[in-house]
Amino acid sequence: MTDTPFYRYDIGLLRRTLDELRELTGNDSRCHIHYAVKANSNPLLLKHIKEYGLGMDCVSGGEVKAALNAGFPPSAIVFAGVGKADWEIDLALENDIFCINVESEPELDVIQERAHSLGKKARIAFRVNPDVDAHTHSKITTGVAGNKFGIDLNMLDGIIAKAISMDNIIVDGLHFHIGSQILNLEPFRKLCLRINDIQDSLQGNGFTAGHINVGGGLGIDYTDPDNNPIADFRGYFDIFRNNLELRPGQELHFELGRSIVAQCGQLITKVLYVKKNPLKQFAITDAGMTDLIRPALYGAYHRIDNLSNPDGKLQVYDVVGPICESSDTFGKDRELPEIRRGDLLAIKSAGAYGESMASCYNLRTLPRTESLESD
Ligand code: LLP
Repeated sequence: MTDTPFYRYDIGLLRRTLDELRELTGNDSRCHIHYAVKANSNPLLLKHIKEYGLGMDCVSGGEVKAALNAGFPPSAIVFAGVGKADWEIDLALENDIFCINVESEPELDVIQERAHSLGKKARIAFRVNPDVDAHTHSKITTGVAGNKFGIDLNMLDGIIAKAISMDNIIVDGLHFHIGSQILNLEPFRKLCLRINDIQDSLQGNGFTAGHINVGGGLGIDYTDPDNNPIADFRGYFDIFRNNLELRPGQELHFELGRSIVAQCGQLITKVLYVKKNPLKQFAITDAGMTDLIRPALYGAYHRIDNLSNPDGKLQVYDVVGPICESSDTFGKDRELPEIRRGDLLAIKSAGAYGESMASCYNLRTLPRTESLESD
């Protein structure tokens, strides 16, 4: 067994998730799915995701390079982000990726200038802030007025007109993303209705987008991953099918991250000590917030299983890591089968925004990875 802590990826589950996606969208040639690689860029996962013909959604030059290195076709790569550096824009232009999602007028000016000097035409989409509340965690909601993402609805007409007049810009799409870990699908329906209105108004001014990109955000079941290992893709795609009025010839793009990879990954950690004080009992693990930061950063819940003693007598623990921060806590007051020194715990649903957000704080080493195939 590999030294702990490590991420264990269940490739069988990843493939079953991708099978479901393919079954629901594969017959629709107008529908394109880009995997949001920020969720997890482990090459092992990328290999399988590529085999299913998904494109890639990138938010940095490093991610664009990862997509190209993993063999994703440039024509299936989109590049988003509120602050793209000049070299990142150049990288996208030089590799003729499908689309750069533009978030501001100054960025548009730089893309025009860079494309001109490289002798390229930049295909762009405007990321629009649709002012739709995703009702998710405040740190991962992105589509309401007043946050840094996207172009304000009132400024859209003007910026599109400006971009159309630019020699090295092709305005092809409209891009939206309202947030992440969205389980109640109603905000997606609201997004569709808002996009319909936006399209009506833009069409009135003679502009029809070649594609609509509705971003990602579909949530997964963190509380009961064993019984709900695959996200509600059917409900999600039905919302768009039933509510979004695509215009003739228009293509529909999605950028899904978490819902593709979250459930196939677990963080496996060894218990170093069980520490009792008059008020609490702590299980101190060798994994910490450096390996999985979601609980510390967002107060996120991840189910924890005791792999070594599944039938032990239930007791209450705070499961904590070794880092010098009180927020280094994976779970408070968790009822778990008796935990002993050396037991292995699985912190579940950790395939998305786990390994990809790991750090070396406290000069720790990054977690290792291991994979298995389940049926
Ligand atoms: N498209 C855009 C423009 C995004 O900003 C994101 C995620 C996605 C797509 C993919 O969203 P997903 O399908 O994975 O929900 N670290 C946080 C999540 C941050 C999400 C950032 N943007 C977490 O651990 O919950």
